Amino acid sequence: MTVPVTPLADLADPHPALAALREDGPVRRLDLRMGLPVWVVARYDDVLAALSDPRLSNDPHHAGALTELLRGDFLSRSMIGTDPPEHTRLRRLVSKAFTARRVEGLRPRVREITDALLDRITPRGGAELVGEFALPLPVTVIGELLGVPEGDRDRFRGWTDEMLDRPFDPRSDMARVTAARERMHGYLAELVAAKRARPADDLLTDLIEVTDEGERLDGQELMAMIFLLLIAGYVTTVGLIANGTLALLRAPDQLDRLRADPTLVPQAVEELLRFDGPVNPGLTRYALEDLEIGGARIPRGDVVLLAIAAADRDPDRFPDPDRLDVGATDPGHLAFGHGVHYCLGAPLARLEGQVAFTALLARLPGLALGVDEDELRWTGGGVLRGLRELPVTFTPTP
Ligand code: HEM
Repeated sequence: MTVPVTPLADLADPHPALAALREDGPVRRLDLRMGLPVWVVARYDDVLAALSDPRLSNDPHHAGALTELLRGDFLSRSMIGTDPPEHTRLRRLVSKAFTARRVEGLRPRVREITDALLDRITPRGGAELVGEFALPLPVTVIGELLGVPEGDRDRFRGWTDEMLDRPFDPRSDMARVTAARERMHGYLAELVAAKRARPADDLLTDLIEVTDEGERLDGQELMAMIFLLLIAGYVTTVGLIANGTLALLRAPDQLDRLRADPTLVPQAVEELLRFDGPVNPGLTRYALEDLEIGGARIPRGDVVLLAIAAADRDPDRFPDPDRLDVGATDPGHLAFGHGVHYCLGAPLARLEGQVAFTALLARLPGLALGVDEDELRWTGGGVLRGLRELPVTFTPTP
């Protein structure tokens, strides 16, 4: 059966539609993003099992219908678009930079960046938290880690809009996507050339050295790696901070509880990821052979959407899943994925989230939404969902 369109288009409130998907079990639907039929898998147990099923590939080249779309797509050469053994080789090249221990060493600098952003906001009594806080914080952190010149970082907002702002229609949007890819390729080539000329103590220089020394990373793979780290390093974290802040504003008792007991912040970050994580509806996979998920028979070559945002509110897994509980201690959410592609940046994202929420609550007393709920604007329609802007008010402090 093919249901006409995916019901995931209500970005302001996708959870009722996600709940309906869970109820239905895996059903083949026409995906608005790619104009292709996809199988939507939405129950927690099914999503968890599928995430570590080697018969489901991350490599879009396995979906014949996508061949045209993939021309010139260098991201599909990155670790997120490949399967073992390529995936293993690519991931190993950077995994050391993102271990929990290495990342913990960044905490003082992440605090400094956070405080500098808030210093500009606190005296004013009002701010637009996406553009002034949730976006520049992770952009600065990943920019510094990789060694992207500060002056280039403003371009990121344009990329985000380009990539996240609307559902993708291959029939009409191919030219736009090709142009965006070419611009991105040009920018990355410039960045690599500049770094070759002036090596520095950063991750980009390390990756260039690996490429120049031998055969472990070729030129295309280098571009793909840098692009993936740049993009994955911030788009999702913006969503964690902004969606998470809104979720707290909507649950004032939880906001007060967290403010009264900041030791709950690490738990609260996990709960916010479960409750309204940025990867929404979820991750795409490609069937390498005929298989069965949740009673549905999925033929080889078909596209499967693993709706982790639905799984993370599955009442069979999480009691009372639609209630935010900042004291929850169940770490089983799938917001960072699962299996070999489990988010490489999870320790960094957690650190940024913990520092951001601790500082927001401590430094913005009386935090409240600055517009009516129905004036909030959302981005998404693809893999991610997030607030475009988050106007807030608070009591000014000097
Ligand atoms: C992979 C979520 C932050 C880098 C993933 C995956 C998810 C995810 C769900 C799995 C993709 C898949 O299975 O296909 C998130 C969320 C974040 C976040 C919710 C923030 C709240 C970051 C950060 C970085 C990062 C800060 C820093 C570089 C990556 C990379 C991968 C990845 C490189 C690919 C891993 C692989 O394919 O082996 N992320 N991420 N992420 N993430 Fe994150």
